[in-house]
Amino acid sequence: MRILLIGSGAREHALALGMSKDPQVTELHAAPGNPGIAQLATCHVDAGPVDDAEAMVALAKKVDADLVVIGPEIPLVAGVSDALRDAGFAVFGPSKAAAQIEGSKAFAKDVMAAAGVRTAHAESIQPGADEASLDEAFGRFGPNYVVKDDGLAGGKGVVVTRDLEQAKDHARAVLAAGNPVLLESFLDGPEVSLFCLVHDSTVVPLLPAQDYKRAFDQDEGPNTGGMGAYAPLPWLPEDATQRIVDEVCVPVAKEMVRRGTPYSGLLYAGLAWGEDGPAVVEFNCRFGDPETQAVLALLNTPLAGVLSAVAQGQLAALPPLDWQPGYALTVVLAAEGYPESPRTGGVIHGVEGKPVLHAGTAFDGQKLVSAGGRVLNVIGVGEDLATARARAYEALDGIALEGSHFRSDIALKAERGEIGI
Ligand code: GLY
Repeated sequence: MRILLIGSGAREHALALGMSKDPQVTELHAAPGNPGIAQLATCHVDAGPVDDAEAMVALAKKVDADLVVIGPEIPLVAGVSDALRDAGFAVFGPSKAAAQIEGSKAFAKDVMAAAGVRTAHAESIQPGADEASLDEAFGRFGPNYVVKDDGLAGGKGVVVTRDLEQAKDHARAVLAAGNPVLLESFLDGPEVSLFCLVHDSTVVPLLPAQDYKRAFDQDEGPNTGGMGAYAPLPWLPEDATQRIVDEVCVPVAKEMVRRGTPYSGLLYAGLAWGEDGPAVVEFNCRFGDPETQAVLALLNTPLAGVLSAVAQGQLAALPPLDWQPGYALTVVLAAEGYPESPRTGGVIHGVEGKPVLHAGTAFDGQKLVSAGGRVLNVIGVGEDLATARARAYEALDGIALEGSHFRSDIALKAERGEIGI
């Protein structure tokens, strides 16, 4: 099987690593890839922007791809999967119409309302709204105030705060940029990310994971794209995954079919697990980053075959997934100044031989340097969370990037049994 993987982050490095171990895979190509992916695949760095449908179709033709796997949301929301399917390629990733589940939070709310899925109450504020209507809308919410950019913001468009002025400032900034704002009631309870393979009404869950969105320990600091994750979640009730599938993902998948925009690819349900069980915080139309790096570290089933089954419409016939027992953890090493203004170009030392996935790296001559806010993900796997944590933090020890920072508390509360529901 010849595969073209679109994307360049640590999530794509994890996907490349998983697929490279699949004996069915004869060639792995990536566009554009990154220095870590380049150890596993042929990287086509000059193929063009990943949301340029014509360029991606041209590359898929050039490498004669049997399967195209699209990692990030931007090409999915831009409709690159439709152009590839129209050109005859098997694609892992939803259509442009189905990717609206992430591209428009208002669309996602509409789908959930029709599907009877529990989620936060929300109101949309359109660009051009005056201060009085902003005041009125905020008067109906919070604290906590949950203010979302109703567009693609790479996980950084959400502000959750008790401070009304900070909440309004974020709303004003989003509106000034020409995007609608979504105000939401706050959902209490620990967060769960559940990734499901979906084709039409067939839904196959992966392991549940938890993401750490705030920049600093104890959930301090600004929201980021994600500073670490672990899987599975020892504190979740035993029937939790099945409940999320039955109460959230299957109803949404069926509603997408009913609308004539069936879903095929990875549906990411971001949930809060409250007293009454799961309620949806958001949906994404692709694998989550960094949860994927932890989840796929435990998958024994060859990954390319799994993604290909979805792309070929054969998900219902896929044998049950096989998981390694135990836990996996990923810790993100972020550049100085991340998330506000990450410093790039810093030399990275000490990654050789380490269980590391590349997120934002590049080569400057022979030197590996930082090229993004989130630079590396280290991975730890173990029979229990304490071992997985110890292995991840041991791996991080000795990796040097001036000014970089990471969270030291990934999965710590779960390890100590301090997460209650
Ligand atoms: N883990 C957050 C995201 O992938 O959007």
